[in-house]
Amino acid sequence: MKGISLLNGLLRGVVLMSVLGAAAVQGAERRDLIIDTDPGADDVVALLLALASPEELNVLAITTVAGNVRLDKTSRNARLAREWAGREEVPVYAGAPRPLVRTPIYADNVHGQEGLPGVTVYEPAKGLAQGNAVDYLIRTLSQAPAHSITIAMLGPQTNLALALTQAPEITRGIKEVVVMGGAHFNGGNITPAAEFNLFADPHAAQVVLDSGVRLTYVPLDVTHKILTSEARLAQIAALDNQAGKRVGDILNEYVKLDMAHYGLPGGPVHDASVIAWLLQPELFTGRRIHMAIDSREGIGFGQTVADWYGTLKQPENVLWVENGDAQGFFDLLTRRLARLK
Ligand code: BDR
Ligand code: CA
Repeated sequence: MKGISLLNGLLRGVVLMSVLGAAAVQGAERRDLIIDTDPGADDVVALLLALASPEELNVLAITTVAGNVRLDKTSRNARLAREWAGREEVPVYAGAPRPLVRTPIYADNVHGQEGLPGVTVYEPAKGLAQGNAVDYLIRTLSQAPAHSITIAMLGPQTNLALALTQAPEITRGIKEVVVMGGAHFNGGNITPAAEFNLFADPHAAQVVLDSGVRLTYVPLDVTHKILTSEARLAQIAALDNQAGKRVGDILNEYVKLDMAHYGLPGGPVHDASVIAWLLQPELFTGRRIHMAIDSREGIGFGQTVADWYGTLKQPENVLWVENGDAQGFFDLLTRRLARLK
């Protein structure tokens, strides 16, 4: 995978992202990061990975949204992840309890009734921050230096869409938005065409896309290539700490459904790939392309159509990540979890 170089991309007449260039730029300075999330098993793994990486990621806040389960549960699970990472100084703001337009849907069939399979959930010691996530986004982004804050979107994009609708000028404070969402080559996971986060609120995703912010999509096309295996889960379970045990227990339960449904040898850990992309972009390859979202009623509702070959000759609006180094991802995750208690 690492052999897929920029030179190869240029020879094929396409623009692959400059993997080494991205690493140099992104690795150079600590990123100010807001994580918008709907925990969710893979969201919790993503949060632990981010919160265990303070040298590279200055997590300003976690903002929560309804998605995998109801907002009260996603907000509790985000606070649990924060507690497990020993990072109680990071505020958690609760945001939108429902999508912009469509009827709410949940994924408790995948993540369990509490949104966190394989472990016992409980009320964490520290509560939510005062105020709403949407207000927090508007306040923080409007006061931030120009193009300084990265936003990792790990669930439906409702909070950022509401913030952008109320205060479009906040795009100035945004460095880039990295989305776990969408599917093109892989097909969908909630319908044959649509990925869950886009299906759960396609209108919000459209608002974010239309805002013109610098966007990276980490879709099922790549997350379905970064799969657990017995050996990868064993390396996490072998960590002599609670974080390794918890992530092992969560993933062992979480991957079962996908493995059975898709006949895969292991399961994806979708949202954690966004954090891995921020930490080690050289693990991934993709292209700048034009992408469109279908939010019309019908079989394509929530679908992302990636114009991979530039057929429509439309302006590029996203960096679409298409491939990733699976073992590199699990090695990174294991190393970072080893730092936690
Ligand atoms: C996405 O949907 C959610 O169920 C996961 O947490 C992830 O964000 C994968 O389609
Ligand atoms: Ca999620």
